[in-house]
Amino acid sequence: MIYLDNAATSWPKPQGVVEEMRRVMTNLAGNPGRGSNRAAVGTAHLVYIVREQIAGFFNSGAPQRVIFTNNTTHAINQALFGILQPGDHVITTSLEHNAVVRPLKALTELGVSVTEIPVVPGEKFPFAEFKASFQKSTKLVVTLQASNVSGNLLPIHKIGELAREKGVLYLVDAAQTAGIYPIDVKKMAIDLLAFPGHKGLLGPQGTGGLIIGPNITLCPLIYGGTGSLSESDRQPDFLPDALESGTLNVVGISGLGMGLKYIRKYGIDNIRMREQEKCQQLIDGLQTVPEVRIYGGTNASEKAPIVAFNIGGHDSMIISYLLDKEFGVISRAGLHCAPRAHTVLGTIDQGLVRLSPSHFTTEIEIEQAIEAVRNVAKELVDR
Ligand SMILES: Cc1ncc(COP(=O)(O)O)c(C=O)c1O
Repeated sequence: MIYLDNAATSWPKPQGVVEEMRRVMTNLAGNPGRGSNRAAVGTAHLVYIVREQIAGFFNSGAPQRVIFTNNTTHAINQALFGILQPGDHVITTSLEHNAVVRPLKALTELGVSVTEIPVVPGEKFPFAEFKASFQKSTKLVVTLQASNVSGNLLPIHKIGELAREKGVLYLVDAAQTAGIYPIDVKKMAIDLLAFPGHKGLLGPQGTGGLIIGPNITLCPLIYGGTGSLSESDRQPDFLPDALESGTLNVVGISGLGMGLKYIRKYGIDNIRMREQEKCQQLIDGLQTVPEVRIYGGTNASEKAPIVAFNIGGHDSMIISYLLDKEFGVISRAGLHCAPRAHTVLGTIDQGLVRLSPSHFTTEIEIEQAIEAVRNVAKELVDR
């Protein structure tokens, strides 16, 4: 199998991640915060260390303002439902994943209003339109950093500065960039950062988090046991307990911590450069297949490590199916949970085939993937 779907979830994981999770499962008993026995304290310590690592990695300051979640979607929902009230206005873009689109839709039904800035992947961000969309009631700007359809980046630094000038909070969906592009929440004027643990940070599925800037209070999405203030029937109002009810995924968090260590050792720039090299190799190779059309630009160094393409007018699902069945190449087809991005790209009916290598992907695997696309193109044209 040639796994080229790291934008969905990264694989393989570094060996250290697997070993650490095995070590924790085998040797560590206890539920963090549940009692003062040595087992509970031991796991609480482990969770705290990873919280600290994440705060350092994103330069966010106080570790208690890092909230562990199950994934990016959970983090985004916590941020949106935690901040927005009926009457509030939100600015977003047409590139967003359903992890943003659907909660915003649900919130509009509760009286929140939304302005969606049309953004075309690969074209300049429409700052004039963005600036003009602020209203008195604007409470939040929410955008992704990189499109999961085409890999194109948004100028989040500038968007964050403009939001701050207007006194509006900025939530960034870093699903496709955390662990690939350096993110400094302080320097980049990010108030809330939602990130997956299971993609670029190389941790296991079932991990993710939300970073909450200073002086921001969110209403909880989930209420329940935290191990603290058990005598009260009210949710604690201090972080992280206020937003972390129920038993944490300690084994997953331990793996995420090892993923972060691995990235620090290997170097985030080295990881990104290797991935972009593989994307460029893919783009250059795919451009030699006459029926192939590439979306979102052909300069891999300007994008997250994603290559999106189609073969003529063929259904992307069929292309992806043939790549897997006949050549063992794993891609992702369809709309990638981001239908609006496809509307802008004109691919809403056909979808796109997405290839997303990791830094573990070899040149030979990329060569084989290109040949597989060439063969599938021939097969589809000959049909
Ligand atoms: C841009 C973007 N946002 C949000 C998500 C949701 O991430 P998760 O699966 O961690 O909930 C994804 C997943 O691919 C994504 O690409």
